[in-house]
Amino acid sequence: MKVYAINGGPRKGKNTDQMLDSFIKGIAETREDAEIEKVYVYDLKASGCKSCYGCRIKTLDPGQCIVKDGSYELLRKVKNCDGIVIASPIYWWDVTAELRGFLERLFYSMTAMSEDKKRHIETAFIYTMNQPQEVMEKKFTPHFDALDLFMEDAFGTKPERVYSFETLHFDDPNRFVGFSKDLFDYRTKHKEDQFPVDLQNAYDAGRRMAEKL
Ligand SMILES: Cc1cc2nc3c(=O)[nH]c(=O)nc-3n(C[C@H](O)[C@H](O)[C@H](O)COP(=O)(O)O)c2cc1C
Repeated sequence: MKVYAINGGPRKGKNTDQMLDSFIKGIAETREDAEIEKVYVYDLKASGCKSCYGCRIKTLDPGQCIVKDGSYELLRKVKNCDGIVIASPIYWWDVTAELRGFLERLFYSMTAMSEDKKRHIETAFIYTMNQPQEVMEKKFTPHFDALDLFMEDAFGTKPERVYSFETLHFDDPNRFVGFSKDLFDYRTKHKEDQFPVDLQNAYDAGRRMAEKL
C-alpha cells in the first residue's frame, strides 16, 4: 500500500513539514504495510504545465505528462498509489507557486486518463498559515474549495482538510522588520498551546486515511 506525502513548502522541518510528519506517523502507526514516500516539491526542479497537451495525445499514453523534468517520474508513479496527502504553507491566500505548478500538471494529466484506468485514491490537504481561522473563512476558503473539486475530479475522493493557524515563523523577533514583540509573544504562546493540538489533528487524520486504505 503506497502513499505519497507531498510537501509544497520550502522550509524543511518547520510548521508544514512537522504537520506532514505527524500525518505520516498516523498512517504508519495504523497500517504496518504502508509504504510512505515523502516528496519536497521545491526539490523537484520542475515547471508548471506547459500546455503542450502531451497528456492528451491519443497515440501516446493519455494521462501521462510528457514534460521530462523533475516532476515527470512522480507524475508517472502517483497514478498507481493508494493515498496522497499534500501539505502547503499558505502564500497570499493560496498554496505556494511551486505546489501550484505541480498541481497544474497533476490535475491536467489525471483528468486525461480514461475512467477504467483510474484507481480509488484517498486524499488529504494540510494547510498552515499565520492568519487566524476567522480570516481564512472570510477571505480565502474558496481557494481550498476549488482545490477539493479538482482533487475529486482527479482521484474520485473528497480530500480531508487539516489546518494549523497563527503559526510561528521564526524564533527571534529582533532580527526582522514588521513583527511587534506583542505579536511574537502572542504567537509563541499560541504555538505552545495550540501547535501540539494541530499535530494531533494531523496524526488523527493520517490514521483516518490509513483506515480507509
Ligand atoms: C510569501 C509568503 C506569503 C504568505 N502569505 C500568507 C497568507 O496569505 N496568509 C497567511 O495566513 N499566512 C501567510 N504566510 C505565512 C505562512 O503561511 C506561515 O508562516 C506558514 O505556516 C509557514 O509554514 P512553514 O513554517 O512550513 O514554512 C505567508 C508567508 C510567506 C513567506
